[in-house]
Amino acid sequence: MVVARDYASFSELRDEMKGSIGFVPTMGALHEGHLSLIRRAREENDHVIVSIFVNPTQFLEGEDLDKYPRREEADRKICELAGVDLLYLPTTDQIYEEDELCMGAPKIRGYILEGAKRPGHFDGMLQVVMKLLNLSRAERAYFGKKDAQQLILIQQMVRNYFMPVEIVPCEIVRDADGLALSSRNLYLDDDERRRALSLSRSLKKAAKLIQSGERKSEIIRAAMRGILEPEVTELEYVAIVDREFRPLEEVEPGNTIILVAAKVGQTRLIDNLWVR
Ligand code: PAJ
Repeated sequence: MVVARDYASFSELRDEMKGSIGFVPTMGALHEGHLSLIRRAREENDHVIVSIFVNPTQFLEGEDLDKYPRREEADRKICELAGVDLLYLPTTDQIYEEDELCMGAPKIRGYILEGAKRPGHFDGMLQVVMKLLNLSRAERAYFGKKDAQQLILIQQMVRNYFMPVEIVPCEIVRDADGLALSSRNLYLDDDERRRALSLSRSLKKAAKLIQSGERKSEIIRAAMRGILEPEVTELEYVAIVDREFRPLEEVEPGNTIILVAAKVGQTRLIDNLWVR
């Protein structure tokens, strides 16, 4: 594995790669969720590129940019063992200049749910993903369904801007007890971690209701809130939408995503279920 820190050396190393490239952009503090993307990229391509960049433009004022976990040594080892060929660890000045031109998230889909709670977050996320996809020149890029709205917006960006890359959605990886893996789980103490299980439990309940024939969003959401409210510090939303992120009054199996966002202590967590 080679490591690049600036665009010039990255680009040179990239040019040397012949054959297909699978790319996995991350913000580091790598866990099994990230690893599942890397493994899949490894299986499906001749070369694998991973980037680790805690992108400042996707954090809002007052969010956890400064305390976001940074674990470069451990991350490097994980990438090396997973068979990554090229690891890009750019500094902010390698990615951004002053007074950049900006492309924004779509006004509706980019400003509901996560976009409403974190206005501007998706603008910054799309900005950096556009940059990273362009500079990797990968055939395929791998993203987790854990960040469902992010994934849908990246697919839209690639479609709207005719970008020559295939976006590969990957399943959510969970701990044995159901908690969706996230770099932010590192913030949780034991009691918070236990309470955080209410997110996946509420989604399991939704799946059960749907399996037993329930279709009404309001009934499913109420059951979920009943599980979440006693445990979380602040329930931000429980939403049932189609794959275009339009609200659904009735679940349509195969075309429905159920999403939850909540704070447990100071930590903001999200989870979701893609209804089959
Ligand atoms: P980060 O949170 O580091 O996540 C990197 C990728 O790993 C994303 O595609 C995310 O959906 C995926 N991922 C995280 N947890 C997962 C889990 N439990 N199961 C499956 N996949 C999981 O998402 C970002 O970084 C950034 O917004 C980024 C796209 C890198 C742009 O800055």
